[in-house]
Amino acid sequence: MAISSRLDTARVLATVLLPTLAKGVIVRRPGVMAAAGKLQSDQRAVETMRKLRDRYGPEPIRLRVTGRSIAVLVDPTDVHRLLDESPEPFALATKEKKAALQHFQPHGVLISEGAERERLREINERALRPENVPVEAIVRDEADLLTRHVMSTGELTWDAFSQTWWRIVRRIVLGDGARGDDQLTDDLLALRQNANWAFLHPKQRGLRERFQRRLDDHLARAEKGSLAAQPGDLSGQVPHWLFAFDAAGIVTMRALAIGARGTHGILESARLWPTTPVILRESTIATRWHGTWLPEDTLFVVFTPFFHRDPDRLPHADRYAPEIWDRPLDPAIVPFSGGPGVCPGRDLVLATGAAVLDTLGEHLSFPALTAPLPATLNHFAIRLRTTPTGTRVA
Ligand code: HEM
Repeated sequence: MAISSRLDTARVLATVLLPTLAKGVIVRRPGVMAAAGKLQSDQRAVETMRKLRDRYGPEPIRLRVTGRSIAVLVDPTDVHRLLDESPEPFALATKEKKAALQHFQPHGVLISEGAERERLREINERALRPENVPVEAIVRDEADLLTRHVMSTGELTWDAFSQTWWRIVRRIVLGDGARGDDQLTDDLLALRQNANWAFLHPKQRGLRERFQRRLDDHLARAEKGSLAAQPGDLSGQVPHWLFAFDAAGIVTMRALAIGARGTHGILESARLWPTTPVILRESTIATRWHGTWLPEDTLFVVFTPFFHRDPDRLPHADRYAPEIWDRPLDPAIVPFSGGPGVCPGRDLVLATGAAVLDTLGEHLSFPALTAPLPATLNHFAIRLRTTPTGTRVA
């Protein structure tokens, strides 16, 4: 059994887990992201993980933390097993996730269990198929407006991009009637800011009820050509969809910064800068790993930036390498998770993101960041110049 020394536990907490928490697990905090970008904090995190693997070998490494059995994975085949054997015996609904997500999506599939989880999973899988919505037409409409704006200002900023992005998202999820409802997504943002604090922040019942009422009004229209027209009780699921589309916007903006195109471009952006940097599972029984047993209720941690950017194993660690998605993939490259708990929104994200890249790419070109790509890329600060001088990431 690999049990980390107190010093190594402190290192993992200080350079891997706390910076991830500080950036904001549910919604990114701009100030911390700016600092993380300057310090390239993910670089240190990946180095800590490499040292840990060198020191303790491939077994899951237990941290010395009182009150919780925590095991950090370092072996790609263990990552595959953990995700493949979810939700039993490795539950997606860990205590930490429940505490965070109860703030804005208490009925979401991610923190559900047993038969209820199966029912909700099916609703999500059925509803989130890209062919349910005219993604390309919606994107084209909105991206054309953005293109004109960029042509007049000479640059694409995160603020301009994200306004367009949220119009696209509200139309895809709720229909044209929600296009201009900034209040809806602003209220969700406030709830997500509370969720960053998980157990520590009181629940704002009034705000949550206001958000849910607004959302239910949109859903009641069941607008044709939007996800809201899909069958099943969607009201408890849509908060997660809106929340997760934020990550998809970040991934798309970063894809623009590296000159990526198509669905592989979106996948690469999500590999290089995973928006779910920590995938968590909680064991419901004692489980055996490399010959040793870990107790029931162990929290398993997969720190994806380590597996996605590990220079010891991946020759393409720090460059844009869309070709890897055509070949059998390393089992620990999992920006959308894997196994039965894989992101059911994946194809919709790829369709939406790739449509944005293609539409903007028709009229605009941005000089791309080149290898070695930064370990941390603060999306808030990305400014893409359309003039010849080059991409500036402040
Ligand atoms: C770049 C964008 C996205 C990425 C990288 C991403 C990634 C992920 C990951 C890693 C998980 C697993 C989380 C865990 O195991 O705790 C997940 C779950 C999930 N995602 Fe996404 N996601 C994205 C966007 C979306 C979108 C836009 C939707 C919906 C419209 C969505 C719907 C879901 C749902 C419903 C789950 C829960 C699945 C379950 O519990 O079985 N995701 N996603």
